Amino acid sequence: MLALEECFEANRKWAARMRRRDPEFFERLREQQRPALLWIGCSDSRLAPDHIIGKQPGEIFVHRNVGNVVVHTDLNCLSVLQYGVEVLGVRHVIVCGHYGCGGVQASLRAERLGAIDNWLRHLRDVQLMHRAELEGIDRLDQRADRLCELNVEAQVANVCRTSIVQEAWQRGASLAVHGWIYSLSDGLLRDLDVTVERTDQIPDRYRLR
Ligand code: CO
Repeated sequence: MLALEECFEANRKWAARMRRRDPEFFERLREQQRPALLWIGCSDSRLAPDHIIGKQPGEIFVHRNVGNVVVHTDLNCLSVLQYGVEVLGVRHVIVCGHYGCGGVQASLRAERLGAIDNWLRHLRDVQLMHRAELEGIDRLDQRADRLCELNVEAQVANVCRTSIVQEAWQRGASLAVHGWIYSLSDGLLRDLDVTVERTDQIPDRYRLR
């Protein structure tokens, strides 16, 4: 059984170490948070945002769900996005997926897992949009990895189509939305080069006037 006391023991050590390194660390953070990044990533325990990009508490505002999906009616995700962009003033939104994503693999297998099937439907929609390309990839692991990339691209587009991001751009705010992917096998991140930072980069039919 997992010894939960270990969590508290580790926490005391960590807090003491932080205080030794920077005596005002906690006082400063108590006053306010000023993260420059909003991270939208997969819930996978191996994709721990602070660790993999070397950030400390106070530096990233985070939203995570299975498959790093951004759904335009998901009040949870929209609330994080609005608070991050309008109140905290983040300059970058990062949608980060990862190769070997269990959610993406499950959506490809289309087997019944329970309530989560309704969530994975969003990944199946992405799959269907790119059916021709995906069916052209014979190896199943490669097909899944390509879907991981396509999913990040689709979710970057979904972030940009929200009223929140479009209004920020209309106000003249400097805000860029990026798509990154993480490899579980070597721990490295890759920029998918799908950055969007202006309204004219999104399809006309999604622009709010
Ligand atoms: Co995942």
